Order: sequence, then C-alpha cells, then structure tokens
Amino acid sequence: MPSVTYVQHDGSSQIIDVPNGENVMRGALYNNVDGIIGECGGGLSCATCHCYVDDSWASKVGGPASQDEADLLEGVSSERKAASRLSCQIVMSDALDGLIVHLPETQY
Ligand code: FES
Repeated sequence: MPSVTYVQHDGSSQIIDVPNGENVMRGALYNNVDGIIGECGGGLSCATCHCYVDDSWASKVGGPASQDEADLLEGVSSERKAASRLSCQIVMSDALDGLIVHLPETQY
C-alpha cells in the first residue's frame, strides 16, 4: 500500500499508508492527521483540504489542477503557491508511494 508523508506547518510529520484509489484528504482524515479539514467530503466545494505538494513530487502528482480546483484554490486561507493542490483531488496509486505533502498553517 502506498504511503503519504504529511508534514505539518511546524515541521512535524506523519507517514500514513493510504490505499490505492483513496485520496490524500481522506488518508489524513481517517488517520487523525491534523491540518486537513475536508469539510465537503471531497466534493470540490470547500478548499479546506489545501496542501502543498513537495517539490520532489510535483511532476509525478500531475496537474495542473482542473479549472474547478484552480477556482477553489483562489480562495484558500493560507498563501496559494505554485505547489498548492486540493488533497481530495490527489488519488493514490503505487506511482505515488512516498508522496510528501506539506500542510498549510490554517484551512480557515
Ligand atoms: S474536501 Fe472540499 S474541496 Fe477537498
């Protein structure tokens, strides 16, 4: 099962196994990773699952974000960066084993 490293704003991190086909937002929620809210349950309407994909993974995660995702990213609470993505839109696969995402200071 692929793993994701969630890096908190303070630099602490957790490595979580996230099944293939599951998204990075749910991987956090189901494992009590702070920093991702996922208010809309992955419905692409809340932007409280904002994360920054680590530079080393930018090309593997794919992108750019869809237009709907990009529109939502306009309204995130923490700084929007080139690496900003909505974690509910990143679906795990073996190719993403070891993915590193950084969590913003706040989702609100
Ligand atoms: S969980 Fe709401 S947009 Fe990702």
